[in-house]
Amino acid sequence: MQVESFQEVVDHLSEGVVIMDENRTIHYLNQLADKMTRWQVGEKVPYCSYCQLREVAPGEERCLLVREETLPVFQAHMPTYKGLKESFQMSTSSIVLDGHKYIILILRNPKWSYEEQDQKVRHLLIQETMKAEESERKRIAMELHDHIGQSIYSVFLGLQTFKHSLRDEKYKNHLVNMENQIEQTLEDLKRLSKELHPSTLDHLGLARAINNAVQEWENMYQVTIETDILDIGKNLVPREVALHVYRVIQESVRNAVHHGKADIIRIVLDLKENRLYFQVFDNGIGFDVEEKRNTSLGLYHMLERMEIVGGELRCFSKKGGPTRLEGYVPLERSS
Ligand SMILES: Nc1ncnc2c1ncn2[C@@H]1O[C@H](COP(=O)(O)OP(=O)(O)OP(=O)(O)O)[C@@H](O)[C@H]1O
Ligand SMILES: [Mg+2]
Repeated sequence: MQVESFQEVVDHLSEGVVIMDENRTIHYLNQLADKMTRWQVGEKVPYCSYCQLREVAPGEERCLLVREETLPVFQAHMPTYKGLKESFQMSTSSIVLDGHKYIILILRNPKWSYEEQDQKVRHLLIQETMKAEESERKRIAMELHDHIGQSIYSVFLGLQTFKHSLRDEKYKNHLVNMENQIEQTLEDLKRLSKELHPSTLDHLGLARAINNAVQEWENMYQVTIETDILDIGKNLVPREVALHVYRVIQESVRNAVHHGKADIIRIVLDLKENRLYFQVFDNGIGFDVEEKRNTSLGLYHMLERMEIVGGELRCFSKKGGPTRLEGYVPLERSS
């Protein structure tokens, strides 16, 4: 194996690796050790909290790590770049290269790995829940549109054939009212199934799906929605990114109306340096973003959605308004 490839392998280990000599001078740090400690090659490994305090016999080496014996596992606090004494699990072994003794120090930060694992599991759970939620929404939308919608439409056609054979005006009027009600129900079903899963997103892509939805939202919420939407080709935006960005914009519009009481909303969709950029502005009453950041599910889910696709999201608002939500998603990473 080439030396460079071997170094890459060591860089990808889940432990920090430090190679030092008997004077504790550092000769090598892998990426994780560098991130954990920010010690420098050429510097000396600092004494851990234990070695700083322990009683040392005359002539005895203070640092336990450079003693003759291999240390299986040892836990102590080490000064790191944060200036804090981080708790590390350490183990050592030694090798002799070209007649010089080197000590290999393996570092593991139990807190880090626990927090990292915890965060990974949390993201995975949310990601899987959102996936399941989306596929369930899609199933319900199809069921509403294809099954229930078609059944109601058959009833509507059946009533129409009756209408022609009716002589009594009273019954005829009654039937016309029923027809109107059924038509309205069919419209509502269509709108609901689009809200649940915009099929235009799959067929026409993000930009056109938003343009279509804007007309629905204007009617439904009785607001003016101004748009500046670049007609981005469907294939430029991966399906997963399109779906998450669509959901974030959908939630922002709903928030602008329900919470902000806005009557003008502006949606921008653009491409900037191979990043998808979007903005939702509303002229509503605004809110204290810090106050709501950790307590509101809608905002939290928007942030999670952006994290899933490797994007960023910022919300600018203050009491009295206005509110502006702005996000970027890199397109290279997710394609
Ligand atoms: N555009 C906005 N204008 C004014 N206030 C907002 C806006 N967006 C969010 N908020 C405030 O932030 C809070 C949290 O919004 P969030 O969308 O997270 O709530 P939610 O959990 O989705 O509930 P809901 O379904 O009612 O929106 C709202 O209760 C509101 O006070
Ligand atoms: Mg909300």
